[in-house]
Amino acid sequence: MNPVWIIAKKRDGEELSSQDIGTFISGYAAGKIPDYQMSALAMAIYLRGMSTAEIAALTDHMLASGARFTWPSGGTPKVDKHSTGGIGDKVSLPLAPMLACCGLQVPMISGRGLGATGGTLDKLEAIPGFRTNLSLDEMRAVTERVGCVISGATADLVPADRKLYALRDVTATVPSIPLITASIMSKKLAEGLEALVLDVKFGSGAFMKTAELARQLARSMVNTGQRMNVPTTALLTDMNQPLGRMAGNAVEVDESVAALEGRGPADLMEVTLALGAELLVSTRKAETVESARQQLQQTIDSGAAREKFAEMVAAQGGNLDAPRSVAPASEVKTHQAGFISRMDTEKLGQAVIAMRGGRKQLGDLLDLSTGFEMLVRLGDRVETGQPLAKLFAPANVAEEGRQLLLAAIEIAEESPVLGPLILEHVG
Ligand code: URA
Repeated sequence: MNPVWIIAKKRDGEELSSQDIGTFISGYAAGKIPDYQMSALAMAIYLRGMSTAEIAALTDHMLASGARFTWPSGGTPKVDKHSTGGIGDKVSLPLAPMLACCGLQVPMISGRGLGATGGTLDKLEAIPGFRTNLSLDEMRAVTERVGCVISGATADLVPADRKLYALRDVTATVPSIPLITASIMSKKLAEGLEALVLDVKFGSGAFMKTAELARQLARSMVNTGQRMNVPTTALLTDMNQPLGRMAGNAVEVDESVAALEGRGPADLMEVTLALGAELLVSTRKAETVESARQQLQQTIDSGAAREKFAEMVAAQGGNLDAPRSVAPASEVKTHQAGFISRMDTEKLGQAVIAMRGGRKQLGDLLDLSTGFEMLVRLGDRVETGQPLAKLFAPANVAEEGRQLLLAAIEIAEESPVLGPLILEHVG
């Protein structure tokens, strides 16, 4: 079919057939449909939206554009978690080995920092020797031998998304729920999963600033996963302050190891256990969320998950016992007394970027030793001169980080009303 007719159909608000979508996506991936026609269709989708059937078809055709994992039937169930991204969100690091200790396997394909949010691959690269560029065969082998792997997408994995994402980035079509859904779900479903859980974040440090937008995205991704026969659930979680205390790269690995040693901050543990429990219940490894949480906690208490993480790191070329470099520490003190009333969490992420812990431009080299430790949480009472955070940064970037941190943390006379960390379950 002529691509112009397909663009016109969506422009006029009609529903596209799976065949229309397939023609377009395969043509685009093969270089037969040019960027300008794909841009026009992306904008029509942005403006007109898509039905669940259209989104599932788009996901399926993007998935078909490249390689995907196939696993022998009847083997250990493959599962994964995806987060829409936040500041201090290091859940993947402790969760993958915890799940591997519960009789599941986790072939996790992760990304780098996006906007102000940190990236799992950048964090893991703070471990000396750790490789994040495994081939699909290497990923498959580590998954089956160790039980978990965390690596980056290879060029042959969902090439249509790689091309389309770059185009969306420059045509103002990133924040479209159908396009985000197909982009995320095609990459996750290429892992050949038996269950998927999504951590959809809302708040000042999230892609989705409001709970309502996060809910819409969660429903769209859950419906798509289920329609494609992969049991998928989602939790809406609060990102109005960093998750855990640490934000940066090496310091987040340190906090993840602490979590695996039973010394994790309460909020990080709550989200990690809740997401893991979803997968144990979806794969029937546990009957209830409560017994799933106990199984997961047991992997920490016994030391098995800590050992599994070290095993995964070693299988990917790294050494968890080798010292990780952390930049010199200094305190960020408040000039004001009162209650921590709000955090501009995105700005906290920008502080990490200013200290070279994240990218300003594609290809920027990172300083993985920088970051911060939050010493206060929303609702805490502070006095003048009290430290709000500890900064890890060399002198030449510390001042900019300090200014951004101070500007991001609001102090008021009234204590704020706080919502729950896990707002709701979708699925
Ligand atoms: N992350 C993705 O992988 N794709 C999107 O479209 C948005 C966030």
